[in-house]
Amino acid sequence: MELPSIYSLIADDMKAVDAVIRVRLHSDVVLVRQVAEYIIGGGGKRMRPALVLMAAKAMGYEGTRHHELAAVVEFIHTATLLHDDVVDESAMRRGRDTANALFGNAASVLVGDFLYSRAFQMMVGVGSMRVQQVLADATNVIAEGEVLQLMNCHNADIDVEEYLQVIRFKTAKLFQAAARLGAILGGATPQVEEGLARYGMHLGTAFQLVDDVLDYSGDEAETGKNLGDDLAEGKPTLPLIHVLKHGTPDQAACVRKAIEEGGRDMFPDVLAAVKASGALDAARAHARAEAQIAVDAIEQLPASIYKNALIELPAFSVVRRF
Ligand code: IPE
Ligand code: IPE
Ligand code: MG
Ligand code: MG
Repeated sequence: MELPSIYSLIADDMKAVDAVIRVRLHSDVVLVRQVAEYIIGGGGKRMRPALVLMAAKAMGYEGTRHHELAAVVEFIHTATLLHDDVVDESAMRRGRDTANALFGNAASVLVGDFLYSRAFQMMVGVGSMRVQQVLADATNVIAEGEVLQLMNCHNADIDVEEYLQVIRFKTAKLFQAAARLGAILGGATPQVEEGLARYGMHLGTAFQLVDDVLDYSGDEAETGKNLGDDLAEGKPTLPLIHVLKHGTPDQAACVRKAIEEGGRDMFPDVLAAVKASGALDAARAHARAEAQIAVDAIEQLPASIYKNALIELPAFSVVRRF
């Protein structure tokens, strides 16, 4: 299944979101405009805004506030990317040089702050205390997740549960917020809202599990990112944790050393160990299980074409190559 087929239902709404993004990106400060337009111009899958729209539509929402909120969520996502690429020292994103590579770390961090705060200006404009609470909580947890991850760099003794906490915080939380916002806009009952929130959490977890697989096995032309960025930072992601737990003593020793030292020199050896030990299949299997939990969580949603699209999204996240 392809992303475009899932998106075809919300094509007009996505166009409206794009228009909101373009208008709200404006700043009189030239460098803000340059950097913000550069990263947004790189495109991206726009999964989080799509989630806001589909969840709202699945609940029968017929207003226009979902466009603004979808743009808010994409701005928050984009701000985290600007910051994340500085922290990860990444050179490629969305098939081009990262903003930090082109404009420097300082500009990336500061324009990330601009996007965060612009998102909050827009969110206040929507005028719902519940919405503000959801987004304030989400951004706070995302920051905690990135710091937790920083603390775990070069830690070869991390366990699966600690790793899962990092990815739930840094990535799944925003998916959860997106799905929950759709539910709130659509006036869902607390029970249905919780179902959609759980859906977002597990979808986001599956999504990041696969992102971590693609960091070893992806095609750079498709992901638009360099392979090996996680290893370079000594990030103990699930493929590596699997080798540490289930690989041969030699494979485990190789991975331990690579996590502790970081860098790219050991990438070929680590990749061989990851592949030979079945770690990538195991990580994808974990993602598949998360995707199934996501689908189960929205069982109670009323039948609709939007619900069907929501059901397809977790499966896409597991098989995606970009
Ligand atoms: C990248 O997210 C950051 C992660 C949480 C893995 P996406 O893969 O959704 O990035 P874009 O927006 O499509 O470029
Ligand atoms: C995503 O983690 C972190 C964010 C929530 C921004 P990654 O560091 O794996 O994301 P990519 O691979 O750089 O997109
Ligand atoms: Mg990164
Ligand atoms: Mg990654």
